[in-house]
Amino acid sequence: MQKHVKNRRDFLKTSTAVAAVCSVPCLYRSTDSISAITREKNDRIPIGLIGAGGMGNGNMRAAKAWVDVVAIADVDQTRCNSSNQSLSNGKADTYADYQKILDRDDIKVVHIATPDHWHTKPLIEAMYAGKDVYCEKPLTLTIAEGQLIRQVQKETGRIVQVGTQQRSTFNLFTKAIAVVADGRLGKIKRMECCIGGAPKCDAIPSIEIPSGLDWDRWLGPATKVPYLNRPDASGKNRWGNTNCHHEFRWWYEYSGGKLTDWGAHHVDIANWALKSNGQTKGPISISGKSEHPVKFKNGIPVERDRYNTATSFEFTVKYPDNVEMIIKSEGRNGVLIEGEKGRIFVSRRTLDGAPVKALKQNPLPEDALQNVYKGLPMEQNERRAHWANFLYCHREQKEPISDVHSHMQMLNVCHLAGISARLGRGLKWDDENEQIIGDDIANSFLARPYRKGFEINM
Ligand SMILES: NC(=O)c1ccc[n+]([C@@H]2O[C@H](COP(=O)([O-])OP(=O)(O)OC[C@H]3O[C@@H](n4cnc5c(N)ncnc54)[C@H](O)[C@@H]3O)[C@@H](O)[C@H]2O)c1
Repeated sequence: MQKHVKNRRDFLKTSTAVAAVCSVPCLYRSTDSISAITREKNDRIPIGLIGAGGMGNGNMRAAKAWVDVVAIADVDQTRCNSSNQSLSNGKADTYADYQKILDRDDIKVVHIATPDHWHTKPLIEAMYAGKDVYCEKPLTLTIAEGQLIRQVQKETGRIVQVGTQQRSTFNLFTKAIAVVADGRLGKIKRMECCIGGAPKCDAIPSIEIPSGLDWDRWLGPATKVPYLNRPDASGKNRWGNTNCHHEFRWWYEYSGGKLTDWGAHHVDIANWALKSNGQTKGPISISGKSEHPVKFKNGIPVERDRYNTATSFEFTVKYPDNVEMIIKSEGRNGVLIEGEKGRIFVSRRTLDGAPVKALKQNPLPEDALQNVYKGLPMEQNERRAHWANFLYCHREQKEPISDVHSHMQMLNVCHLAGISARLGRGLKWDDENEQIIGDDIANSFLARPYRKGFEINM
């Protein structure tokens, strides 16, 4: 393959070559599971890991039956080296710059597990470079980034799995959707997603950047700011209060707070239920209330030295035909789905409600789960199953269970909740044109600026 294809212009120039080299020959029976394929062919998949933090390492352990981590990129050298030891016995190539992974012809599959503000750019570049990608949720920080990703995925035809692994929990969320799809709840009227709130903290001091961490590159597309950290002497918080590792999720600069961190999981299930129930239309408005640990001016935090995402919130998202979705911080973590004939509650621990109990007397049809799982093989459970699904879809060049298009549909809702929270007012939404109606300031949050040198080149 011609090297350094990372944008649309180069991709169009070389698309015939890229398509020829990147299409994976279909050597397997389409019903073979990924475990069967690996066993039969002793054929492991070389993978490049971009972002060697908590989730990147956890995911690579979940997929270890099928993949060899041959390259690792992280802007923190210490993390890069320690992942290399634990995942690859020190045999992987390590890089500070993930582009080095995208330039390699021997790597056809990459896993992106960087912080949220660093998802869209490498994902788009990876697709143009002909890689299939498992990218962590939420794929974007803004609605405009979602439009770009959908466009590039359609254009390149690359296989992209989103890290919303709840879709691959066959006894819980997948089964809940099968119950809905089989009409056991009747028409859905109301859903409630309880996702918890963000923590708050006092002002965090700016300290010396730890050796090995390329802070400028960690910030990447975001505005240049000092590195903040206050290690927690009690040891309760492993990372301390910081604007960097793990805690980036409590800063709007790098994340959407709980609204996208957990919203990406539970709102995804609620949206999947709606679609399985025949709802074709998107949301029309969002309103509610929220509390933040800092003051905001026109949607921008005034204090810049402490966590700023919403600590508590309750939003009502309205859909056509009087259907509504509540997204709130308080309550039992999970998703409540209420229909005309009954209601169910589903979480990472339980699936409950009268329509579920009724399955003992009146079970779902044999193929009910398979049908909601797009007819794809179902093996293992949760994280491993989600990886099995991705790797199977990479082999077979099929759309995985967590595709970018359904992800963007529901992530739009999470992002709208975030914009509403930041501005402290309700919003009306034109779903077809993906525009907020009659609110220029709110519309200015549909996209974000990129720091010079970190733009997305199309
Ligand atoms: N699916 C899930 O249930 C789940 C759970 C936890 C986290 N996540 C997602 O996984 C992602 C990572 O979260 P985490 O908790 O592992 O964060 P983390 O801070 O522990 O790890 C992120 C890593 O990415 C590295 N990084 C930053 N910029 C980079 C760049 N340009 N190139 C290469 N590496 C870079 C950081 O140095 C860090 O080591 C987030 O998007 C998060 O939402 C998903």
